[in-house]
Amino acid sequence: MFERIDHVGIAVSELDPALDLYSSRFDCEVVHREVLEHQSVEAAVLAAGEDRLELLAPLAAGTALTRFLDRRGPSVHHVAYAVADIDAAIAVLRERGVEMIDDVARPGIDGSRVAFVHPKSSLGVLTELVEHPER
Ligand code: CO
Repeated sequence: MFERIDHVGIAVSELDPALDLYSSRFDCEVVHREVLEHQSVEAAVLAAGEDRLELLAPLAAGTALTRFLDRRGPSVHHVAYAVADIDAAIAVLRERGVEMIDDVARPGIDGSRVAFVHPKSSLGVLTELVEHPER
């Protein structure tokens, strides 16, 4: 099901200082930045060699991400895995009794489709499935 780790998601309260830190200290370049209006989140994708980090900052109070930051502070938020067919992956996981946050894929960053597995069903780790658009 999982083809590879797609990215690691890191929650931050403010995007710009976090991006400055990653670029000045770790030489990580921003390869994509996007506001996800419907989720009240701004996200930036950083390159770590071939691999990717996703920094997420909330744009509004009262979202799941602000509650996460209130509880935990800036920290690792989720691990994302690439899947070839997200609809099939969701169906298989539901059949296997996995609790999904998203029973239907929703739009993710950069034209992707994403769905989250409930951390209850993945040993406390918020787990994201990502299907990238065909290029
Ligand atoms: Co993600």
